[in-house]
Amino acid sequence: MSEVAVTAALPGQALALLAEQHRVRVRPPGPPLGGRELARFVGDADALVCLLADRVTAEVFVLCPRLKVVADYAVGVNNVDLEAARTSGVWVTNTPDVLTGATADLAWALILAVTRRVAEGDLLVRGGEFTGWRPDYMLGVGLQGKALGIVGMGRIGRAVARRAAAFGMRLYYTSPERVPPFEAMGAEYVADLDALLPQVDVLSLHCPLTHLTRHLIDARRLHLLPRGAFLVNTSRGEVVDEGALVAALEDGHLGGAGLDVYENEPTVHAGLLGRSDVVLLPHLGSATTETRTAMADLVVENVLAVLAGAEPPTPVIKPLVPRQ
Ligand code: DGY
Repeated sequence: MSEVAVTAALPGQALALLAEQHRVRVRPPGPPLGGRELARFVGDADALVCLLADRVTAEVFVLCPRLKVVADYAVGVNNVDLEAARTSGVWVTNTPDVLTGATADLAWALILAVTRRVAEGDLLVRGGEFTGWRPDYMLGVGLQGKALGIVGMGRIGRAVARRAAAFGMRLYYTSPERVPPFEAMGAEYVADLDALLPQVDVLSLHCPLTHLTRHLIDARRLHLLPRGAFLVNTSRGEVVDEGALVAALEDGHLGGAGLDVYENEPTVHAGLLGRSDVVLLPHLGSATTETRTAMADLVVENVLAVLAGAEPPTPVIKPLVPRQ
């Protein structure tokens, strides 16, 4: 029987099933853990199940020599020092596929909400300010025939792209790799992000956060978008320079923004909070009961595989020499 340290309770029955085979220690609700604090919690555990805000730094692998797998309850693994895990002999796994549809749906919820002023309208009705239909009242921007730009054509980017057809949008995308089936459907690949930006009315971000994508969307690139364009981010907050985004909204260059993620999450830039041209969600990309339950099931499958001495189903990195 091995020991599994879990930094938060997960939905569904997955942890209960895991507890039938291993000793499972679940942390009571609390702020995210990182570094030494996280290492103290892991202690002698063989496996760690963590959330995207827990910071699994190199010292965790040094201070927890029994640790064999970090199973991140997320698809984005920017919270884990992957190179340190690899060289320390620790598997890192994530939860791809099961959250693709939910996250793509939420990106579209933001696209629609920000272009059609949904959140603003809701507030107005609740505030008793709806005084009747008028031809020029609260006009938004139509999507039919407009251009959607996708940054990062991975699983979620592709799912967002597939949904674009339903709204009659033209598609442009940039990504490390081309995706020919989408080009056959009319999407245009633009290798250089700087060349893509001036062509799109809505830009939706779906790239992972790495040292290459931190502040990928900065002041210069925001101003390469056409005046009145919209930015939607369901990837990671640090991909956007939030201060530059606020400035581009304040100077009227952008038409609005739909954000599910923030640079200093859960803190949100004060310059965004009072604006009616932004829609702000509390990191809900994968937040459906079905998806979060499936993520928990996958996390546990990964842990069980490694503890049984097998390869996990969804590894992010394979350790140089797996710890025994
Ligand atoms: C992830 O899994 O990376 C998402 O951000 C969670 O919703």
